[in-house]
Amino acid sequence: MASFLTSTYHFTMFFILLSTFLAITDGKFSEQYPNTKATKHDKISHLHFYFHDIVSGKNPTAILVAGQRNSFGSTAMIDDPLTEGPEPSSELVGRAQGMYAMTSQQDGSLLMVVNFAFNEGKFNGSSVSVIGRNPVLDAVREMPVVGGSGIFRFARGYALAKTYQYNITSGDAVVEYNVFITHD
Ligand SMILES: *[C@@H]1O[C@H](CO)[C@@H](O)[C@H](O)[C@H]1NC(C)=O
Ligand SMILES: *[C@@H]1O[C@H](CO)[C@@H](O)[C@H](O)[C@H]1NC(C)=O
Repeated sequence: MASFLTSTYHFTMFFILLSTFLAITDGKFSEQYPNTKATKHDKISHLHFYFHDIVSGKNPTAILVAGQRNSFGSTAMIDDPLTEGPEPSSELVGRAQGMYAMTSQQDGSLLMVVNFAFNEGKFNGSSVSVIGRNPVLDAVREMPVVGGSGIFRFARGYALAKTYQYNITSGDAVVEYNVFITHD
């Protein structure tokens, strides 16, 4: 548990954010108001976990929904376990639910559209959304965290993915993730 959340700490704000606002009073569709939360994105969480992409066997967690495996256009839907350590039997901290698609004709680049839904302790029920480019043959791939829910409301950040183990026979992979998120 301790290594899953390695640090959460506060930022000191070096400036006061000046904001102007325009009040819209004659419409119900939208309204604007001063951003009193502007100075409250003061936490950074660093999450560390392992992502298990299981394509083989009777209970795959990644299934091909379009195209041919490992070729341009192939698309997989995933519900991959996220664990504290690299072993599949390690404590489950969440699941990666979403999809990836091969968007490159030249190399093994994927488009990742994934929600990391956590179930660990205070993170249970919170999620972060990642959309990014994942050139799987690179040693470390960086993908943007574009938002979050629960504890991770207003999230911004990035995820670093590093292949821990790839079984060339089965196609199963274990990927180490370090995710850095600023949030409320
Ligand atoms: C997470 O929350 C759900 C729903 O509130 C609950 O059923 C589940 O047991 C919780 N999981 C953990 C690991 O605490
Ligand atoms: C790789 O997958 C094959 C086929 O599922 C399996 O027999 C083999 O034990 C796996 N290798 C490793 C190192 O896990």
